[in-house]
Formats: sequence, C-alpha cells, structure tokens
Amino acid sequence: MTTLSPASSAPRNASKDFLVYVNGEMVPSQQAVISVFDSGLNFADGVFEGIRVYAGRVLHLEHHVKRLFESANAFDISIGMTPAALTEAILEWLRANSVSDGFHFRPIVTRGNRIPPRLDPRFCTGGSNIMFVGGSIGPANMKGQRVVISSVRQINSDAIDARIKSLNYGNNLLARLEAIRRGVDDALMLDSQGFLAEASAANAFLVKDGELLTPYTKSCLPGITRRTVIDLARRRNLSVVERDLTVTEIINAEEVFLTGTGTELAPVVEVEGRTIGSGTAGEITTALYADYMALVSAEGVPVTAK
Ligand SMILES: Cc1ncc(COP(=O)(O)O)c(C=O)c1O
Repeated sequence: MTTLSPASSAPRNASKDFLVYVNGEMVPSQQAVISVFDSGLNFADGVFEGIRVYAGRVLHLEHHVKRLFESANAFDISIGMTPAALTEAILEWLRANSVSDGFHFRPIVTRGNRIPPRLDPRFCTGGSNIMFVGGSIGPANMKGQRVVISSVRQINSDAIDARIKSLNYGNNLLARLEAIRRGVDDALMLDSQGFLAEASAANAFLVKDGELLTPYTKSCLPGITRRTVIDLARRRNLSVVERDLTVTEIINAEEVFLTGTGTELAPVVEVEGRTIGSGTAGEITTALYADYMALVSAEGVPVTAK
C-alpha cells in the first residue's frame, strides 16, 4: 500500500483562511458546506474553471467564464445567472478576500442536489450549486519537472469532449498518482492511439528544430494558456504546429514544457528517466516564460471596483 505524504510542491501557505462562496453566501472555509446529495459529489456532474490573480488583476477572466458556461451548456446544466452576474460575483468575492496577487481559484458549478442520488438528472429539484474556492499559489517550477509517461490514457473526445472542463478527473488523478508512486513531478498522458495528449493538469509542448509542436485538442483541454503561448510564439516568428506527436518525438525533443493557469509555463527536463535537451530550461522555453510573465503582469480584469 502506498502512503501519500505531502509533495514538495504542495501548498504550504494554508495560514490565511479565505472566505468560500457557496450559493451567494461568503462563509469562512470551516463553515462552507454543500449537501451530501450534491451532483458533483455523487456523479462528477458539474463543471469548473481554474483562474489566477496576478498584480490585482484576474487573468483571462472572460475566457474562463465563457468556457465555464460552454462546459455547463454541454452538460445541460443551467448555472442560473448570466456570465456578467457570475463575473461580478467572482470579483466581489475576491474583493471580500482582499486578494491582490498569487491567488488561484476554482469556480465550481454542479447540477445541484439530487434526491435520491440517482443518475437520472431529473432527480435534481433545486437549482445548481455554485462554489468559489481558492488559495495562494507560487510561481512556476523553472528548475524543471521530471515526468513519466502514464500507463493511463487520456479520454478521447468521442467519450467526453475535451472541451468540457468537467469534474470528471479520474484518469488525470490516476496519472498523477502513478507519477507520485514513481517519484517524479507529473505524468504525460497519451491518447487512445498512443500519441501525446497532455500532462495530468496542463498542456504540453515540444521544441524540435526550433519549431513548437503541440497536440491537436482531440484528447486534451484546449487550454487558455496553451492558446496564449501559441500567440506569444507566433509574435516571436516561431513556427507552431499542432499535430500527432509520438513518444519517440518527446524523448528526442530539444525542449519540452507544460502550460496551464496553475502551471504557468514550466520546463520538463526529464521524461521516463531520459534527460531532455541540456537538462535545464531551454532557450525557447525561457524566452516564452519571460513573454508570458510580462503578459500576466499587464493584462486582466482589475479586482477592484470600477
Ligand atoms: C487537464 C488539463 N489540461 C490543461 C490545462 C490547462 O488549461 P488552462 O491553460 O486553461 O488553465 C488544465 C488546467 O487546469 C487541465 O486541468
């Protein structure tokens, strides 16, 4: 049996007790509760986003709110408020928590309480459950991540469309558990055909012959950071190609890096025990990281009231 001890990257800053938003109320975390009949708890029947605050601004808030509503729509979940109202509720909650920097949060929307808890969604009688939870987060691991290739495959879009950011993270979790058991930071997941999909909670890029390569979004979330990094690379006149990528191409890449709201842009220096490039963050990864950091400190929706 494996015992999971806290990872070195696990948050250490649990000292501040952030208020949690639950269905319109802001409550101390110890008092934040939802029903045991909640659809997310019983069936992973819900959707969420991971959003980050830098320098008093919420990065890409409008993109995250849009994706949340599109995910909910795909699951036929009515959020019960407009995107503008949800955006305002998020900003109000951030202000109530005096959030200004280094904060990562998850708006979560589930179908609501299902009594009795049967699969048929018509057992939900009230409206959706809406929660905002969050905490402090530190900068990307620029020393470089060591990863394995997970034996767990990522779900194809013919099962659950990768565009739906749902609470169904079972296979991502299995991949992360495998990484922890094997003593590394994360795992790359392949799709059902054996091509690279993504990491357990981030998108993946390779650099080969100076060109940026990233998988199609068939079996990976079309990440908001992925899109941003593609735009930043093109601004540097780098060629960016979306295509199927094999394990051979991963281990022969000059650079590998991961992208995500929480991950930022993090170099991968080892895959399955094989060193990638020089074993440190590569030149293109470092340049794109600098571009990304410049962007996050300049863009975003101000937390403060207009
Ligand atoms: C499975 C998965 N892929 C990719 C990403 C990156 O997406 P984004 O850049 O929109 O945060 C995430 C983010 O949490 C994720 O969970």
